[in-house]
Amino acid sequence: MKKLLSILLASLLVVGILGACSKQETSDKKKVLVMGTSADYKPYEYIDSAKSDEIIGFDVDIAKYIAKELGYEIKIKDMDFTGLLAAMEAKKVDFVMAGMTPTAERKKNADFTDIYFTAKNLVISKDGAVQKVEDLKGKTVGVQTGSIQEGKAKDIQKATEIKITDRNRIPELFEELKAGRVDAIIIEDTVAKGYLAKMSELKSIEIPEAADEAGSAIAFPKGSKQTEEFNKVIKKMQDNGEMEKLIKKWFGDEQ
Ligand code: ARG
Repeated sequence: MKKLLSILLASLLVVGILGACSKQETSDKKKVLVMGTSADYKPYEYIDSAKSDEIIGFDVDIAKYIAKELGYEIKIKDMDFTGLLAAMEAKKVDFVMAGMTPTAERKKNADFTDIYFTAKNLVISKDGAVQKVEDLKGKTVGVQTGSIQEGKAKDIQKATEIKITDRNRIPELFEELKAGRVDAIIIEDTVAKGYLAKMSELKSIEIPEAADEAGSAIAFPKGSKQTEEFNKVIKKMQDNGEMEKLIKKWFGDEQ
Protein backbone atom coordinates (compact mmCIF):
# COMPACT_ATOMS: atom_id res chain seq x y z
CA MET A 1 0.00 0.00 0.00
CA LYS A 2 2.77 2.33 0.97
CA LYS A 3 4.60 1.44 -2.22
CA LEU A 4 1.50 2.08 -4.30
CA LEU A 5 1.07 5.43 -2.65
CA SER A 6 4.63 6.48 -3.37
CA ILE A 7 4.32 5.37 -7.01
CA LEU A 8 1.16 7.41 -7.21
CA LEU A 9 2.84 10.41 -5.66
CA ALA A 10 5.86 10.06 -7.92
CA SER A 11 3.74 9.90 -11.02
CA LEU A 12 1.73 12.89 -9.89
CA LEU A 13 4.99 14.71 -9.49
CA VAL A 14 6.09 13.74 -12.99
CA VAL A 15 2.78 14.88 -14.45
CA GLY A 16 3.12 18.11 -12.52
CA ILE A 17 6.64 18.73 -13.79
CA LEU A 18 5.66 17.92 -17.36
CA GLY A 19 2.70 20.25 -17.06
CA ALA A 20 4.88 23.03 -15.75
CA CYS A 21 7.38 22.44 -18.53
CA SER A 22 4.88 22.67 -21.31
CA LYS A 23 3.40 25.77 -19.74
CA GLN A 24 6.90 27.24 -19.61
CA GLU A 25 7.32 26.39 -23.25
CA THR A 26 4.19 28.21 -24.37
CA SER A 27 4.99 31.33 -22.41
CA ASP A 28 8.54 31.26 -23.80
CA LYS A 29 7.22 31.21 -27.31
CA LYS A 30 7.22 34.89 -28.17
CA LYS A 31 4.18 36.64 -29.51
CA VAL A 32 4.82 37.71 -33.06
CA LEU A 33 3.97 41.28 -34.04
CA VAL A 34 3.84 42.10 -37.73
CA MET A 35 5.29 45.50 -38.55
CA GLY A 36 4.09 47.17 -41.72
CA THR A 37 6.57 49.44 -43.45
CA SER A 38 7.52 50.94 -46.78
CA ALA A 39 11.14 49.96 -47.27
CA ASP A 40 11.98 52.78 -49.66
CA TYR A 41 13.05 55.19 -46.97
CA LYS A 42 16.75 55.01 -46.30
CA PRO A 43 17.95 55.32 -43.53
CA TYR A 44 14.61 54.59 -41.75
CA GLU A 45 13.85 51.36 -43.60
CA TYR A 46 15.42 50.04 -46.76
CA ILE A 47 17.08 47.08 -48.37
CA ASP A 48 20.79 47.22 -49.08
CA SER A 49 20.48 44.83 -52.01
CA ALA A 50 24.25 44.55 -52.43
CA LYS A 51 24.40 42.89 -49.01
CA SER A 52 21.12 41.03 -48.50
CA ASP A 53 17.38 41.23 -49.01
CA GLU A 54 16.78 42.02 -45.36
CA ILE A 55 15.01 45.24 -44.41
CA ILE A 56 17.27 47.33 -42.20
CA GLY A 57 17.38 50.86 -40.80
CA PHE A 58 16.69 53.21 -37.91
CA ASP A 59 13.05 52.16 -37.51
CA VAL A 60 13.94 48.48 -37.69
CA ASP A 61 16.56 48.85 -34.94
CA ILE A 62 14.11 50.72 -32.71
CA ALA A 63 11.38 48.13 -33.34
CA LYS A 64 13.78 45.31 -32.50
CA TYR A 65 14.93 46.97 -29.30
CA ILE A 66 11.35 47.59 -28.15
CA ALA A 67 10.31 44.05 -29.06
CA LYS A 68 13.19 42.60 -27.09
CA GLU A 69 12.29 44.66 -24.03
CA LEU A 70 8.65 43.61 -24.22
CA GLY A 71 9.19 39.99 -25.24
CA TYR A 72 7.78 40.17 -28.76
CA GLU A 73 9.16 38.83 -32.00
CA ILE A 74 8.93 41.19 -34.98
CA LYS A 75 8.13 40.19 -38.55
CA ILE A 76 8.32 42.89 -41.21
CA LYS A 77 5.93 43.31 -44.14
CA ASP A 78 6.92 45.68 -46.94
CA MET A 79 4.31 47.58 -48.93
CA ASP A 80 3.65 50.98 -50.51
CA PHE A 81 3.48 53.79 -47.97
CA THR A 82 0.00 54.84 -49.02
CA GLY A 83 -1.49 51.43 -48.13
CA LEU A 84 0.03 51.05 -44.66
CA LEU A 85 -2.73 52.32 -42.40
CA ALA A 86 -5.42 50.52 -44.40
CA ALA A 87 -3.41 47.29 -44.04
CA MET A 88 -3.38 47.84 -40.28
CA GLU A 89 -7.12 48.44 -40.20
CA ALA A 90 -7.57 45.23 -42.18
CA LYS A 91 -5.43 43.49 -39.52
CA LYS A 92 -2.80 42.48 -42.08
CA VAL A 93 -0.18 44.15 -39.91
CA ASP A 94 -0.19 44.78 -36.14
CA PHE A 95 1.52 48.15 -36.23
CA VAL A 96 3.06 50.58 -38.70
CA MET A 97 6.53 52.00 -38.44
CA ALA A 98 7.62 53.89 -41.54
CA GLY A 99 8.97 57.28 -40.53
CA MET A 100 5.29 58.11 -40.30
CA THR A 101 4.13 61.49 -39.05
CA PRO A 102 1.15 61.47 -36.68
CA THR A 103 -1.11 63.93 -38.49
CA ALA A 104 -4.59 64.88 -37.25
CA GLU A 105 -6.07 63.11 -40.26
CA ARG A 106 -4.24 59.85 -39.55
CA LYS A 107 -5.09 60.06 -35.84
CA LYS A 108 -8.75 59.67 -36.74
CA ASN A 109 -8.12 56.02 -37.58
CA ALA A 110 -5.02 55.11 -35.62
CA ASP A 111 -3.30 55.72 -32.30
CA PHE A 112 0.29 56.91 -32.34
CA THR A 113 3.12 56.62 -29.85
CA ASP A 114 5.11 59.70 -28.88
CA ILE A 115 7.30 61.14 -31.61
CA TYR A 116 10.73 59.49 -31.55
CA PHE A 117 12.47 61.59 -34.19
CA THR A 118 11.87 64.91 -35.93
CA ALA A 119 13.11 65.92 -39.36
CA LYS A 120 12.53 68.72 -41.88
CA ASN A 121 11.20 68.87 -45.42
CA LEU A 122 13.20 69.97 -48.43
CA VAL A 123 12.36 71.07 -51.93
CA ILE A 124 14.93 69.51 -54.23
CA SER A 125 15.54 70.67 -57.78
CA LYS A 126 18.19 70.28 -60.47
CA ASP A 127 20.93 72.88 -60.69
CA GLY A 128 19.25 75.09 -58.11
CA ALA A 129 16.23 75.90 -60.29
CA VAL A 130 14.27 76.48 -57.09
CA GLN A 131 15.82 78.95 -54.64
CA LYS A 132 12.68 79.70 -52.67
CA VAL A 133 9.19 78.15 -52.44
CA GLU A 134 7.75 80.90 -54.70
CA ASP A 135 10.05 79.73 -57.53
CA LEU A 136 7.84 76.64 -57.81
CA LYS A 137 5.23 78.72 -59.65
CA GLY A 138 4.21 76.97 -62.85
CA LYS A 139 6.38 73.94 -62.07
CA THR A 140 5.65 70.24 -61.64
CA VAL A 141 6.32 68.95 -58.13
CA GLY A 142 6.75 65.25 -57.31
CA VAL A 143 5.77 63.71 -53.96
CA GLN A 144 5.23 60.28 -52.44
CA THR A 145 1.59 59.17 -52.61
CA GLY A 146 -0.21 59.57 -49.30
CA SER A 147 2.71 61.29 -47.55
CA ILE A 148 2.71 64.53 -45.60
CA GLN A 149 4.94 65.84 -48.39
CA GLU A 150 1.92 65.47 -50.66
CA GLY A 151 0.04 67.58 -48.11
CA LYS A 152 2.85 70.18 -48.17
CA ALA A 153 2.60 70.37 -51.95
CA LYS A 154 -1.15 70.94 -51.64
CA ASP A 155 -0.50 73.75 -49.16
CA ILE A 156 1.96 75.34 -51.57
CA GLN A 157 -0.61 74.92 -54.34
CA LYS A 158 -3.07 77.09 -52.40
CA ALA A 159 -0.67 80.01 -52.67
CA THR A 160 1.24 79.27 -55.88
CA GLU A 161 0.14 77.66 -59.06
CA ILE A 162 1.95 74.29 -59.26
CA LYS A 163 1.22 70.88 -60.74
CA ILE A 164 1.49 67.96 -58.32
CA THR A 165 2.41 64.48 -59.44
CA ASP A 166 2.76 61.52 -57.10
CA ARG A 167 4.70 58.24 -57.07
CA ASN A 168 4.53 55.27 -54.70
CA ARG A 169 8.24 54.82 -53.98
CA ILE A 170 10.89 57.40 -53.13
CA PRO A 171 13.55 56.22 -55.65
CA GLU A 172 11.01 56.79 -58.45
CA LEU A 173 10.79 60.46 -57.48
CA PHE A 174 14.54 60.92 -57.85
CA GLU A 175 14.40 59.14 -61.21
CA GLU A 176 11.69 61.51 -62.42
CA LEU A 177 13.67 64.53 -61.24
CA LYS A 178 16.84 63.31 -62.89
CA ALA A 179 15.00 62.65 -66.14
CA GLY A 180 13.43 66.12 -66.05
CA ARG A 181 9.87 64.79 -65.90
CA VAL A 182 9.31 66.78 -62.70
CA ASP A 183 10.95 70.10 -61.82
CA ALA A 184 11.18 69.54 -58.09
CA ILE A 185 10.39 66.98 -55.42
CA ILE A 186 9.57 67.34 -51.72
CA ILE A 187 11.55 64.97 -49.52
CA GLU A 188 12.51 64.74 -45.88
CA ASP A 189 16.04 66.02 -45.21
CA THR A 190 17.35 62.83 -43.60
CA VAL A 191 16.23 60.73 -46.56
CA ALA A 192 17.38 63.28 -49.14
CA LYS A 193 20.87 63.42 -47.65
CA GLY A 194 22.11 60.19 -49.24
CA TYR A 195 20.81 61.17 -52.69
CA LEU A 196 22.17 64.72 -52.46
CA ALA A 197 25.60 63.37 -51.62
CA LYS A 198 25.54 61.13 -54.71
CA MET A 199 23.93 63.51 -57.21
CA SER A 200 25.81 66.78 -57.18
CA GLU A 201 23.46 68.42 -59.70
CA LEU A 202 20.66 68.34 -57.12
CA LYS A 203 20.18 71.33 -54.84
CA SER A 204 17.82 71.73 -51.93
CA ILE A 205 16.01 74.39 -49.92
CA GLU A 206 14.21 73.95 -46.64
CA ILE A 207 10.45 74.41 -46.31
CA PRO A 208 9.75 76.61 -43.32
CA GLU A 209 7.40 74.76 -40.94
CA ALA A 210 6.72 73.96 -37.30
CA ALA A 211 9.23 71.58 -35.73
CA ASP A 212 6.75 68.78 -34.98
CA GLU A 213 5.30 68.72 -38.48
CA ALA A 214 7.70 66.13 -39.80
CA GLY A 215 8.10 63.94 -36.71
CA SER A 216 7.95 60.14 -36.75
CA ALA A 217 5.84 57.95 -34.48
CA ILE A 218 4.61 54.35 -34.44
CA ALA A 219 0.98 53.69 -35.37
CA PHE A 220 -1.29 51.15 -33.68
CA PRO A 221 -4.94 50.27 -34.14
CA LYS A 222 -7.26 52.54 -32.15
CA GLY A 223 -7.48 51.52 -28.50
CA SER A 224 -4.48 49.18 -28.61
CA LYS A 225 -2.78 48.72 -25.27
CA GLN A 226 0.56 48.36 -27.03
CA THR A 227 0.78 52.11 -27.68
CA GLU A 228 1.52 52.72 -24.01
CA GLU A 229 3.82 49.68 -23.74
CA PHE A 230 5.85 50.96 -26.68
CA ASN A 231 5.83 54.51 -25.31
CA LYS A 232 7.44 53.32 -22.09
CA VAL A 233 10.31 51.75 -23.99
CA ILE A 234 10.71 54.78 -26.29
CA LYS A 235 11.01 56.89 -23.14
CA LYS A 236 13.53 54.44 -21.70
CA MET A 237 15.58 54.58 -24.91
CA GLN A 238 15.61 58.36 -24.74
CA ASP A 239 16.74 58.23 -21.11
CA ASN A 240 19.38 55.52 -21.40
CA GLY A 241 21.07 56.92 -24.52
CA GLU A 242 19.98 54.10 -26.84
CA MET A 243 17.96 56.45 -29.06
CA GLU A 244 20.88 58.85 -29.38
CA LYS A 245 23.11 55.92 -30.29
CA LEU A 246 20.76 54.82 -33.07
CA ILE A 247 20.34 58.40 -34.36
CA LYS A 248 24.13 58.65 -34.64
CA LYS A 249 24.35 55.23 -36.26
CA TRP A 250 21.77 55.94 -38.98
CA PHE A 251 21.82 59.72 -39.48
CA GLY A 252 25.41 60.53 -38.72
CA ASP A 253 26.96 62.67 -36.02
CA GLU A 254 25.70 66.05 -37.10
CA GLN A 255 22.06 65.35 -36.20
N1 ARG B 1 7.00 61.45 -42.77
C1 ARG B 1 6.23 61.39 -43.98
C2 ARG B 1 4.81 60.99 -43.71
O1 ARG B 1 4.50 60.52 -42.67
C3 ARG B 1 6.83 60.47 -45.02
C4 ARG B 1 7.07 59.09 -44.58
C5 ARG B 1 7.39 58.17 -45.74
N2 ARG B 1 7.84 56.88 -45.26
C6 ARG B 1 8.27 55.87 -46.03
N3 ARG B 1 8.67 54.78 -45.44
N4 ARG B 1 8.28 55.99 -47.33
O2 ARG B 1 3.95 61.13 -44.55
